[in-house]
Amino acid sequence: MPSSAPRPAVADLAGAFALSPAASAFAAEVRAGLMRSPQKELPSKYLYDEVGSALFEVITVLPEYGVTRSEERLLTRYASEIVEALPSDVKVAELGSGSGRKTRRILEALCRKRPTSYCPIEISRTALQLCRRELADIERISIVGYERDYLAGLSEVSRQRKEGEQLLVLFLGSTIGNFARLAATRFLRDIRAMLRPGDTLLLGTDLVKPVDTLIAAYDDAIGATAAFNLNLLSRINRELDADFDLHDFEHVARFNPDVRSIEMHLRAKRDVHAEVRSAHLTVDIGAGETIWTESSHKYHADEIPAIAADAGFECTRQWVEKDWGFAESLLAVK
Ligand code: TRP
Repeated sequence: MPSSAPRPAVADLAGAFALSPAASAFAAEVRAGLMRSPQKELPSKYLYDEVGSALFEVITVLPEYGVTRSEERLLTRYASEIVEALPSDVKVAELGSGSGRKTRRILEALCRKRPTSYCPIEISRTALQLCRRELADIERISIVGYERDYLAGLSEVSRQRKEGEQLLVLFLGSTIGNFARLAATRFLRDIRAMLRPGDTLLLGTDLVKPVDTLIAAYDDAIGATAAFNLNLLSRINRELDADFDLHDFEHVARFNPDVRSIEMHLRAKRDVHAEVRSAHLTVDIGAGETIWTESSHKYHADEIPAIAADAGFECTRQWVEKDWGFAESLLAVK
């Protein structure tokens, strides 16, 4: 079309108003979650935008949040032992790489033996960038990031591997705890379906501990976790043209003993009326009502083998850190 020709009005309108595929998926999930009754909810995977990822990095170094340090101690202490327990030629896929700091230990131990490719799978572009920056200096590593959902990314990595290469899937940080119990087993089964005999999964789980320790870990004194949780609403404001006033909400962390999980909510301090224009939604939230944003389930180390077996794995090794209470379990495809 010559540049002087008028551009079609319809295309103009679509160009001005259409959301990217990622933004429309976000809009659809926000809409569905806020229309839920009786419990409104928002999907936790959207907590990790640029601000959220930075805040989560802060959380990992808070005195109250022992999870990350405990897993780091485990991986530092046992990296060689873990690597010895693996097949000799592995390609590493990590579900949710975060900053990559914990993974360094394993990757260094692998790369000392042979050149290793590492495929972080992350929907957060910021986290992918952080992780590449953090790990690029490891000798003999090649890093190929996948900006995808876990399963879509894993299926791609699994299909693209070379003959004779076995996959080591890393699922660390107790992210498995963010699934409801049955969904966790189902998710492990979905992972299993993409793997072959000889492949392995290293699974990090935070362990059951006293309730006050858990509550403090998810409701810290300087309010970093509160900010992390509230940022989800400000992300919706920014990306979906919404008008939540963050001052109307407060962060709540409570323990649900029936399923042994910490639940994170955003509680309305007063009646709230808000519009989420890109999701074509107006929402009313009563004073005291909550939006559930995340749960973090806690496990006993000795329940992992049965869960693994249920999902088609065999738990061949387990390393437990007792100071905080965290377990790393090595699951082999049966
Ligand atoms: N996987 C982390 C966990 O369950 C995520 C997390 C830590 C988190 N603090 C949070 C998620 C606060 C939401 C809100 O421990």
